[in-house]
Formats: sequence, C-alpha cells, structure tokens
Amino acid sequence: MKSMLETISHEVGTPYYLYHESILLQRIQSMWKVFSDLDFHPTFAIKANANPYLLSMFHHYGIGADFISKGEYNAAVIGGIPASSMVWNGNAKSVDDIQFFTNAKIQNVNVDSINELKKWAQLKTTKETLPSLFLRINPSIEAHTHPYIRTGMNQHKFGMLPQDIPLCFDIASKNNLEIEGFHVHVGSQITDAETFEQAYSYIRDLAIQYHVNSLNIGGGWGIPYFETSALDLQQMRKIVHDCFHGFKVLCELGRFLIGEAGWYLCRNCENRENDEEMISITDGGMNHLLRPSLYKAHHTFSCTDPKPEKKNIRVMGRLCETGDILVPTAYQNCPEEGSLIAIHQAGAYGFSMANHYNGFPLPAEVFLHTDGTCSVIRKAETENQFLSQCSVEKYNDSSS
Ligand code: LLP
Repeated sequence: MKSMLETISHEVGTPYYLYHESILLQRIQSMWKVFSDLDFHPTFAIKANANPYLLSMFHHYGIGADFISKGEYNAAVIGGIPASSMVWNGNAKSVDDIQFFTNAKIQNVNVDSINELKKWAQLKTTKETLPSLFLRINPSIEAHTHPYIRTGMNQHKFGMLPQDIPLCFDIASKNNLEIEGFHVHVGSQITDAETFEQAYSYIRDLAIQYHVNSLNIGGGWGIPYFETSALDLQQMRKIVHDCFHGFKVLCELGRFLIGEAGWYLCRNCENRENDEEMISITDGGMNHLLRPSLYKAHHTFSCTDPKPEKKNIRVMGRLCETGDILVPTAYQNCPEEGSLIAIHQAGAYGFSMANHYNGFPLPAEVFLHTDGTCSVIRKAETENQFLSQCSVEKYNDSSS
C-alpha cells in the first residue's frame, strides 16, 4: 500500500483524494440488499461528491442523481446519468432554473415550499409536461446528529409543515398539477435506525391519507467515524420493508455510498510536541477537508511510516488558522516526519466542500480500481487557478 500511495503522490502531488472501488462496490451492494424486492429507485446525492467519474460508476450500478444546482446537474450529465434518473432538490428555486430543468426533462422535483409550488403552477399554464412533483414535508422529528446537519424540525429552513398539505393539493387541483408523492429528509449522519423508522412511517402514513403511491425518503444514513457505530442494516431492511411494501420508493443517499470509500492523503511535514500531545503538521488543511473544523468531526487516520511509540496525536494543516484541524487528538502511533497520512471516511463532503482559502489549489482525485491500477479522475489545480476569474486591471482612483 505504501509504495502505491507514494507512486500516486509522485504523479499528482500531495495532498490528494483517493477513492477505493472495492469499498464503493460493497456499499452499493449493501444498499441494494436493504431494498431488495421493493420498487426502489435510488439516486446519489451529488452534494456529497460531484466527480463525474464516480457518478458514472453509480449510474453503471443503477443509481441516478440528486442535484441542487446547474453545476451538480452538469456533473451528472458528464457522468452519463439520464434526466429520467434525476431528482432536483433545494430551497428557493428560481423561476429561470424551474424553466431550465423542465426543458431538460428532469424526472423528479422535491417542492420545498408553497411559494415554490405556485411557481410550478405558473409554468403549468404554458408547459404540457412538468417533472413529477414531490412535496418535501418537515415532520418535526429531531435527528441525533450535529445541529448544522439536522433538517427535520420546523425551525429549519427546509420543507413544508404537514398543515400546509391541504393547501398544496388545493393549488394543484386548481392548476391541473399532479402531486406525485412526498419527500422527507430529517438530517445527515444519523446512525440510529429509530429516527428513520419515525420519519419513514410518518410519510408512509401521509401517502395513505392523501392517496399517493410514491415516496422519496431522502438520505442521511450515517457511517462510522472515530468511535461512532454503524447503522444497523438488518434493522433498516426490516423498517423499509415494513413501511414501503407496495410503494414506489426513491432515495438520495450520499455519505453512506461514498464516505468510507474516500481517503484524503497528505504529507506529514513536521512533528511538534507540547506538554500534552504531538502535533503533526501536514501539507493538507481545512481548505480541502472542512468537516473537522466545521462540525468537529472526528475522522480516523493511518500513516505509511508509524513510529513504534504511541502518543496523543493531533493532525493539522498548514493554513493560518488555529482551527485548521484534520484529526482531533487521538492516542496512536506517531507518524514519522515525511510519511503520508491517510485521513479516512473522507469520500463524502470532502472534495465537494473544498475551497481556495489561503490561495492553495484544489487537490487531485484518484480512483483505485479493484485490480490495483489507478486512474486520475481529476487533476490537481495549478497554483494560480484560483485567480483565473479575477481582473488584472490595476486600481484607478476615480476621484483624482
Ligand atoms: N437529500 C437531501 C435533501 C439532503 O439535504 C442531503 C444532505 C442528502 C439527501 C444526502 O444526505 P447524506 O445521505 O449524505 O447524509 N456537509 C455535511 C453534510 C450536509 C448534508 C446536506 N444534505 C457533512 O459533511 O457532514
């Protein structure tokens, strides 16, 4: 493994992202197993990872795309995903985008508010065919996850309240619109099956009440990070079968499919010791893997050259921020200076949340095939790419 990781770093430089095909295959297979024998139509939440090569792999295994923006939609198109397997999600959809994605013949849309439904009704007066409309319902179910990634309570900015539903059906019938079904997504990185049981049975009951047959159950399935447990898939299988027998089910899983398949690789440039711990300062940073600083997420890590002794280790980046943490303190073998550090569980919301802070380029992405060969699926940016849209004009003092 060390020589392979070093060979890649020779080719693309550090830091870089690496995706393991073998893990992706396991995850895809376990998702299909949970839903086997149901009328199931999965999509991948592109927000977790927008690399078109990965999207094309999902497509190969029967998984469509859930997108938010034209950028994510374009990634899906490059990945070869047909509009008939796409779902459009998000707040505050503009009339222009509604028009654009209707022309693009996107199959499904999650309608986020009454306001948005009115925009669709307006378009219906000029267009024959609209996408299938799912009402996103906010069920007031509190997910046990970081507050920034909870979405199921009525103080959150997503979806409609159940009491809005009759008005939605009224608007629909007056405008000759069809409501295809309901959508629910109460948060991300949820590892207790009970929360899903509540949310899923909630929209299933709504479907029965309002005589619709299609449900989009969102994403949110959690994965194990440092000392967090995995979602119990046997229990999930029972829940989805109990809830959705006889229904058409769509989903939008992101993290579950790709999180554990991705590593963020960076070089350990310097070890620094203080009274409490050893700090490994790498050539990576929160510019590429924001989760630890934004959500206090604790990813696990390994390194190519561990020293024999164990210590409290914290892995940091090289940005001008004290909070530039890649791994919070963990007791394990110290990485030698110069060794490669692999930060695990970085496939979801890793590259997709990367940015240009401190002027560093975005890293390469590499795909490790099951036969041991690698493909560069995104080249690293060059040093100045972050300036490419800036004017080169010099300041002109118009008052003089
Ligand atoms: N569907 C909807 C409507 C969503 O808002 C999301 C995630 C998903 C599906 C996919 O959720 P997943 O299966 O990946 O949990 N940046 C955060 C996660 C933000 C999730 C946003 N919405 C993180 O790094 O943890």
